[in-house]
Amino acid sequence: MMPKSLRGRIKPKPVEKKSFKPGNVLAPVPAVLVSCGGTHGFKPNLITIAWTGSICSDPPMLSIAVRPERYSYGIIQATQEFAVNIPSLAQAYATDWCGMKSGRNVDKFAETGLTPAQSSKVQCPIVLECPVNIECRVQQSLNLGSHTLFLAEVAAVQVSADLLDAKGKLRLEKAGLLAFAVGQYFALGRSLGRFGFSVKKSKKKGSR
Ligand SMILES: Cc1cc2nc3c(=O)[nH]c(=O)nc-3n(C[C@H](O)[C@H](O)[C@H](O)COP(=O)(O)O)c2cc1C
Repeated sequence: MMPKSLRGRIKPKPVEKKSFKPGNVLAPVPAVLVSCGGTHGFKPNLITIAWTGSICSDPPMLSIAVRPERYSYGIIQATQEFAVNIPSLAQAYATDWCGMKSGRNVDKFAETGLTPAQSSKVQCPIVLECPVNIECRVQQSLNLGSHTLFLAEVAAVQVSADLLDAKGKLRLEKAGLLAFAVGQYFALGRSLGRFGFSVKKSKKKGSR
């Protein structure tokens, strides 16, 4: 249950603010393994991406921001598809490593031992070991400056079967997910409550 200190109205306290240089301090964000290639003459590749987010629910869409100098950029531009693979703690090392090495020089699947598996709706591989795989088709790309934002429609989602409960509900909290915050990786901690907990009436003992 949520500790009392986290419940209810916030008590006003004096807070001193300091101006900080404008930059990318949005946190936490996920750090995901984006797979691409395996088609159009490109070998399969992996790039670690922290600047990703859901952007539309109908149609389901997400975005990734990629620097044009990345080897993966040319692959995604040419193939117009990629897969977002959400890593768990077991893939934390590989996630960092794939963000340090370029597919120009190394075969990241072979070096990490991650398995390129058949996707269902796109041609690039998904990462078998990652608990969630989101297959995407690019709809638009926006050159924003240092990064190009790929806006993509979700064509299919694969989840590891052991994350589904008896009712077929996705229990992602069992996956041991990672978060990335201003240069550091974190393991997600305890749950503080489900969506809408702040307005849910608590069930008192003995009440019907
Ligand atoms: C945690 C983490 C997050 C990253 N996020 C991004 C990102 O959002 N966009 C990007 O272009 N590069 C990002 N990078 C850097 C690329 O993953 C890195 O340059 C990689 O080596 C590119 O691989 P490639 O040349 O095979 O495409 C990130 C790296 C790490 C470690």
